[in-house]
Amino acid sequence: MMERVAIVGSGLIGRSWAMLFAAAGYKVRIYDIEPKQITDALSNICSQLEHLEEIGLMRGHLTKEQQFQAIEGTNDLKYCIEGAIYIQENVPEILELKRRVHQKIDAIMDPTAILTSSASTIVPSDLCSHLKNRNRFIVAHPTNPPFYAPLVELGPSPWADPDLLPQTTALMKKIGQSPVTVKKEILGYVLNRIQYALLRECFSLIREDVVSVQDLDKVMSDGLGRRYAFIGPFETAYLNAGPNGMLDWGRKYGADILRVCQSFGGPEPFEGPTVDKMQSEMVKYLPLDKLDERRKWRDARLSALAKLKASFDSGEDKDN
Ligand code: NAI
Repeated sequence: MMERVAIVGSGLIGRSWAMLFAAAGYKVRIYDIEPKQITDALSNICSQLEHLEEIGLMRGHLTKEQQFQAIEGTNDLKYCIEGAIYIQENVPEILELKRRVHQKIDAIMDPTAILTSSASTIVPSDLCSHLKNRNRFIVAHPTNPPFYAPLVELGPSPWADPDLLPQTTALMKKIGQSPVTVKKEILGYVLNRIQYALLRECFSLIREDVVSVQDLDKVMSDGLGRRYAFIGPFETAYLNAGPNGMLDWGRKYGADILRVCQSFGGPEPFEGPTVDKMQSEMVKYLPLDKLDERRKWRDARLSALAKLKASFDSGEDKDN
């Protein structure tokens, strides 16, 4: 019999997890407190699968009909959770809400199941200290959109069973994701800490009118991002300096990097005239009524990139 997973919260992230598990051959039950969200999630999944088939970028070996049929929407949390080997919670990033939802799941779940949260900033112990099954709790923080961006940060609870991390890692690999381990509890995990550091500096460059919004985005998509799709900042540095890798890099660029870093400002709220300026520049090149179209475009590009990377994945290529 096919194993079943439970998805709780059917917004942007929940629906994408549902597609991932269905593509990998699992049965999926997806729950939401808002019935309309489930209907929307199912129709969105259906149109995404149609689009993926049209452009030849389906994931897995099942047809779009088989993948769609594997996903069942429900308004009944008990029905969603019981018998599931894996539960992924995706409700909004509000501590008290997540704790309440976890408690309800805790009362129903199989004690050997894996209970995960998509939490992107809140640490695992805050999310599960009150659960009887906290030994089965681990954060699985995806990258948006999880169906197209494989990175998942795994952060086990301090009470996790020793086999929980290896089991979850193996499952993530099985469904085609790329898991990394967050070894210590830290606000924002790794991806968001890096992303927020970047956003902080971008914000300040716009506030100071150093560059336009469109050109700043280009610095990433035509500059840093080109390398980062294949190698991270450390390998970039390792390759960029001389025959002695990091040591040459530190000697050659260390002082300049420090000088620039010392010119960075501290954190500031993401609000006010700088946000208004970003918005007015953004709407010029990407009008708000074109957001859905552009999301589709983004997802198709990410799928194509995944295919390209997989085609490089011969013996000597080490990514994934
Ligand atoms: P969303 O707002 O699109 O979806 C949240 C869903 O949860 C809604 O459908 C809502 O009706 C439902 N919900 C609210 N209360 C509920 C309850 N008591 N029981 C069941 N369902 C309930 O939010 P999104 O973007 O999908 O985020 C979900 C989680 O994923 C958050 O923790 C977020 O931080 C995390 N995340 C989000 C990313 C993003 O870029 N959107 C990236 C990675 C993680």
